[in-house]
Amino acid sequence: LPMKVIRVKDAAEGGKKAFEIIKDGMENGVKVLGLATGSTPETLYQEMTSSDLDFSEMTSVNLDEYVGLAGDDVQSYRYFMNDQLFNKKPFKETFVPNGKAEDLEAECKRYDGVIADHPLDLQVLGIGRNAHIGFNEPGTPFDVTTHVVELTESTIEANKRNFDKVEDVPTHALSMGIGSIMQSKKILLMAFGTDKADAIKGMIDGPVTTDVPASVLQNHADVTVIIDEDAASKL
Ligand code: GLP
Repeated sequence: LPMKVIRVKDAAEGGKKAFEIIKDGMENGVKVLGLATGSTPETLYQEMTSSDLDFSEMTSVNLDEYVGLAGDDVQSYRYFMNDQLFNKKPFKETFVPNGKAEDLEAECKRYDGVIADHPLDLQVLGIGRNAHIGFNEPGTPFDVTTHVVELTESTIEANKRNFDKVEDVPTHALSMGIGSIMQSKKILLMAFGTDKADAIKGMIDGPVTTDVPASVLQNHADVTVIIDEDAASKL
């Protein structure tokens, strides 16, 4: 199935385009947003917080969280979301997996329940250098739901910039599964920079394979991709 590809000159323009899609979605019945962390969606969140759009009837369900980090830890994804978006734009309800849960398997089940109770209308995605989505690393079966993930070296390397030292990067995360991401009615993936060029090439032009997790999106009927020239450079 063809993905709709929108090329932009940089992340700032990408954030504006993504915002338009969210706004348009909300005018057409979108109530549950799947949200992502990382540097990629930051410009989108800036557009959302500086807009006059009202999110107080919206629900958000985030993709993932580091195991071992509490929500008030500045490196947690819950903290990132509060800081970037929710503190400035109140939502009705916001969900992020609990990285401090004592029983991680039970937490995965609980989070699957959250997704079942709040079916995703529009899922925002970034993409890892190895084409992971959420924290679904290469090799992850396409039908999994929320699961505990051991992060790859490549992901730990890429994400260490947010920590004081590489040893501080958690080795595990909780992630919404590819099966749940694929259930979202609409998907909006953003990628900026040359670091993402190989992942974007594999996602759009490569075979659908668990080696390239984002390639599964070729099987989804409503995917929009927003990329800058650098991320598009291998297409
Ligand atoms: C992390 C997140 C992903 C994100 C990826 C890319 O691994 N779990 O959801 O897409 O990083 O991050 P960035 O946008 O900072 O490049």
